[in-house]
Amino acid sequence: MIMERVDKLISSQGKYTRSEVKKLIREGRVTVDGKTVTRPETKADADSQVITVDGEILGYKKHLYIMLNKPKGVISASRDGKETTVVDLVPAALQRNGLFPAGRLDGDTTGFVLITDDGDFAHRILSPKNHIQKTYHAELAEEITEETIAAFRNGVELSDGTLCLEAELRSLGGRQAEIKICEGKYHQVKRMFAALGNKVLALKRTAMGNLPLDESLAPGECRELTREELAQIEGK
Ligand code: URA
Repeated sequence: MIMERVDKLISSQGKYTRSEVKKLIREGRVTVDGKTVTRPETKADADSQVITVDGEILGYKKHLYIMLNKPKGVISASRDGKETTVVDLVPAALQRNGLFPAGRLDGDTTGFVLITDDGDFAHRILSPKNHIQKTYHAELAEEITEETIAAFRNGVELSDGTLCLEAELRSLGGRQAEIKICEGKYHQVKRMFAALGNKVLALKRTAMGNLPLDESLAPGECRELTREELAQIEGK
């Protein structure tokens, strides 16, 4: 059981700021297990106690996990001030402090971005040690060759000498290919193909771990993930 200040618990969910919650409490609009809370420093356990605001149960979530279908021209950052970020695309009902993209896509790359406020989870799915594959669909300037497929399998050496871990490359016919990598070096897929004399013309992330992008999300749309989907990312 983790007891925390009730004003902090409620404001962590994003809908109200801390000072708004204090006002709600002063106005007698917050209850814990049926009792009206009178002081913001009152402690409660969000997992085992029922907290309400204006009679509505607070559906407390420690963390949020959101799948976004990233459109082109949006940057993978929390907030930028100038440019639109992936976090800016999260609708108000899912906004809260601390959201960030777990792994970056280039401005012109589209597809699956996972947005969360859970740093441990992000670290687990991004660490190459955990071998969680990110799948990409690429449109290339040239058809891929058997040599390119073998080079991916053996670990590509980038033009600056950086060695990439083994990766999977599969032809989807013509100049289309599917790539699976377990790491996320800067411009990695583009630089892997560049090192082998090819060029990425378009790139889309189609899956993280065993979880495919929900193609019913239009570019720019997002939704929360279920527990089962989260587990799929980690290959469970
Ligand atoms: N590799 C790239 O080159 N760009 C991305 O956005 C993701 C992987």
